[in-house]
Amino acid sequence: MNEIIQFLHQRVSALSGFITTPAPTNEELITILQAGMSAPDHGGLMPWRFKIYNPHNFDELIDIATMAKRHDQPDIGDDEMQKTISKLRRAPVVVAVWAQKQSQKNIPMPEQVAAVNMAVGQQILCATSMGYAAVYLTGWLAFNPVFHNHLGMVAGDEFCGFLYLGTFAQKPPSKNRPRVEQFITNFNNIN
Ligand SMILES: Cc1cc2nc3c(=O)[nH]c(=O)nc-3n(C[C@H](O)[C@H](O)[C@H](O)COP(=O)(O)O)c2cc1C
Repeated sequence: MNEIIQFLHQRVSALSGFITTPAPTNEELITILQAGMSAPDHGGLMPWRFKIYNPHNFDELIDIATMAKRHDQPDIGDDEMQKTISKLRRAPVVVAVWAQKQSQKNIPMPEQVAAVNMAVGQQILCATSMGYAAVYLTGWLAFNPVFHNHLGMVAGDEFCGFLYLGTFAQKPPSKNRPRVEQFITNFNNIN
């Protein structure tokens, strides 16, 4: 088994809450995000959109998330608000990822969302290969129309998730992954 296959078989996400500084540098972040540009993409529509939050603009994320949470839960108390919002800063780089619907080729939106998520998969692999911690999460903010509006999303677009990037505060334990055979039909017919 070559090193790349071993790497793919052993990849693990960072544990949410255990991602710290240092963050990838700007140049490294571009290298990571660029890895998504070679993802399979039906029709070459490039529906992926990314907005980067880091300590320079975390205030923007916190302000919009506070408004968004009030929209969901108008009577929320200060403590709960504080707790909810602080989780968004669980990593020094937070990339909001969505699919901007492309209509020029009649390619169904689920395929466009699939392309975006495949891009993120490649970005996770790239970040991990560089030694950075990465995890892809949704959470309440992912489904909030106030936040979608802030990103400039319009009807038909779909939010996909948040890619959290930084350094492992604690290495996640290696995982026993399931054997793939159990998910394959007609495996005996391959050879
Ligand atoms: C689109 C998408 C959204 C996800 N959202 C969450 C989430 O909100 N919370 C969560 O605990 N895991 C979520 N996950 C799973 C994590 O990214 C991660 O795969 C999981 O923690 C297991 O770690 P592993 O990748 O090392 O197996 C999501 C995965 C995908 C593909």
